[in-house]
Amino acid sequence: MAKIEIIRGDITQLNVDAIVNAANRSLLGGGGVDGAIHRAAGPELLEACERLNGCNTGDAKITPGFRLPSKYVIHTVGPVWNNGKNREKELLASCYRQCLRIVSENGIKTIAFPNISTGVYGFPKPEAASIAFETVQDFLTEHPELEKVIFCCFDEENFSIYNNLNFNKIIIKRVQSPQAIQIVAGLASTIWNEHYVLIIGQEQVDYMVASFQSADAIEKQINNENYEYYLIYHLSEPSGYISIKLMGDELFLSKFYITKEKRGTGLGKEGLKFVINIAKKLDAKAITLTVNKYNIKSIKAYDKMGFKNTGSVVSDIGAGFVMDDFKMSYEL
Ligand code: APR
Repeated sequence: MAKIEIIRGDITQLNVDAIVNAANRSLLGGGGVDGAIHRAAGPELLEACERLNGCNTGDAKITPGFRLPSKYVIHTVGPVWNNGKNREKELLASCYRQCLRIVSENGIKTIAFPNISTGVYGFPKPEAASIAFETVQDFLTEHPELEKVIFCCFDEENFSIYNNLNFNKIIIKRVQSPQAIQIVAGLASTIWNEHYVLIIGQEQVDYMVASFQSADAIEKQINNENYEYYLIYHLSEPSGYISIKLMGDELFLSKFYITKEKRGTGLGKEGLKFVINIAKKLDAKAITLTVNKYNIKSIKAYDKMGFKNTGSVVSDIGAGFVMDDFKMSYEL
């Protein structure tokens, strides 16, 4: 399920938790989407806005949606385009970020944005679309709790610009924040329970997830054991993760997982290309990994990617469990 949707339509009709209004600093209504939202919400919206004492450019404030299908309206004030002389790009990005901050603070799960500042305020539509998309995509990489962001385009020009945005369908981002570590731990538990129960049994999966894939275990590996973790996002959806550690002149690929529903979308190939780039930058001679002997699917996938089997390795992982693996190596 892609988190980001681009539609053509009237934002006042959308049945989402919150719609965003491209307002002016007074918050007392106007034309364009501001006028449409106030007309659809009814007079209570103006009364609620009068109590907000206006809003600065680049900032945002929330009110109920009243007669609108959406529970909330988040009013934001975009910059008036002045040929980029007054930090307009920064202020437009701030509008999206402030709206998303309010979304996060209010447990809102679905939100729709109009194309802020691209009407009366004259912001060039292509740049506005890129700023909107990149700001939202960046926020989503740390906020998986947000279920859907809709870009609601009213005019044909914006709609075609958004649909032709050559955005990265796949983003690979270094894991450093506690939120990102939580996302990895969540993915790990899902993937291990989906993929390994049939291979090593539920008991060992539970032990592995609790001992080596928990947020604490991951944080310890990052902070005390020089592991680097990366999250792989597909259409802004956390869809896999990688953990690596340089060991001598070899780069150990400790974990490399893709969620079941994202298999076949090219994430594995992209992930490996990413690891190979890091290995080359570190002057590593090879990328090594261990894979459970009975994990036939993964062994075949690594084989296809150019890894060679270099022998068995059996390791005692505690609590009476033993990992019976093949060691595989990708020569650089
Ligand atoms: N649904 C979705 N989008 C809409 C709608 C609608 N019902 N009506 C207009 N739009 C689109 C416009 O096509 C444009 O792409 O909203 C985008 C923003 O245009 P404006 O509404 O003109 O907003 P903006 O450029 O940010 O200027 C804000 O205009 O209405 C006044 O009070 C508002 O002073 C403020 C200024």
